[in-house]
Amino acid sequence: MTTTAVLAGLGAYLPPRRVSNEELSERFDTSDTWIRSRTGIRQRRWADTGISTGDLAYEAGHRALKSAGLGLGAPIDTVVLATTTPDHPCPATAPDVASRLRLTSAAAFDISAVCSGFVYGLMVAASTIEAGHAERVLLIGAETYSTILNPEDRTTSVIFGDGAGAVLLRSGTPDEPGALLGFELGSDGSQKELICIPAGGSRQRSTYRAPDPGDMYFTMQGKKVFATAVRRMGESSTALLNRVGWSIDSVDHLVGHQANLRILHSLAEQVCIDRQRVVTNIEQVGNTSAASIPLALAHAAAQERFKIGDRLLLTAFGGGLTWGSTVLTWPGITPS
Ligand code: COA
Repeated sequence: MTTTAVLAGLGAYLPPRRVSNEELSERFDTSDTWIRSRTGIRQRRWADTGISTGDLAYEAGHRALKSAGLGLGAPIDTVVLATTTPDHPCPATAPDVASRLRLTSAAAFDISAVCSGFVYGLMVAASTIEAGHAERVLLIGAETYSTILNPEDRTTSVIFGDGAGAVLLRSGTPDEPGALLGFELGSDGSQKELICIPAGGSRQRSTYRAPDPGDMYFTMQGKKVFATAVRRMGESSTALLNRVGWSIDSVDHLVGHQANLRILHSLAEQVCIDRQRVVTNIEQVGNTSAASIPLALAHAAAQERFKIGDRLLLTAFGGGLTWGSTVLTWPGITPS
């Protein structure tokens, strides 16, 4: 039988500091009512100074190992870290996280697909296993957006939160609960300016004095992103379901990127799935970018919302622009 990647462990970690809408209303011209009604968010976590993306990734990775019945120093072949907010521009954060997890012989690298990073990471991890290059892959989505938000931009500042989620994938077969059964990914770089940090890379280099301090921060054209996110996640989901031969009625849970509750509701309408089957945790954590889907999975699994064999559709959209979807059956693991 074909070798397939199977979900064997799930971990989540949030930094302790809760930032409420009320707290943000003291700093910005905004309100709890505006934030809740336009985004569905009540609070998010922000890492205190000194806590890095790698620190969150380590905690989530350790929990995913424990959830899979493994521990520090486990025989893991590859560590993939999806992030927009690495600890340093160079080197990648994954090797440091792998070292701290004592995964001393693992290949380790970061991938950058912004809010689609986790789904892109699943495709990379699953392909590595299917090609026979790895038996076990640890995939972590970790972010500290609080470090790139413009303190003068109320729109992005109320949306994004910090956190990390991780999964352990192992080699298995497609008939096993937990099997990842297909992918549908895409991108459109012609719209890269919709979600962008203009400076700090090779296009607009870090200099002694950046041309415009605002260019060092995350920027987003919210309205255009909203419409494109719904369309791309909807199209990608439908194309994938057609490819694997699942009807939307047979999908038990839609786990979409938690960008905005209204985006998730519009997506549900577009793909014709009941809102009851849409997993949400944005109210508690905001948009955590590459950490969003594993955090939503861990939240729902902790509430025992999934049964073994349930069909899950995961779909994400992010900067690049990038988007992607995958389907799997639920393995009955317990998140840590
Ligand atoms: N508090 C109060 N008012 C705010 C605000 C805030 N935090 N942020 C924006 N506003 C104001 C705007 O200035 C605007 O005022 P105006 O009408 O006087 O010009 C008004 O609210 C409406 O702004 P608009 O941008 O049209 O709001 P919106 O309904 O589109 O919601 C987002 C804004 C950002 C919440 C929404 O566009 C969104 O969620 N976009 C997608 C975000 C996303 O998914 N990002 C990640 C992709 S991976």
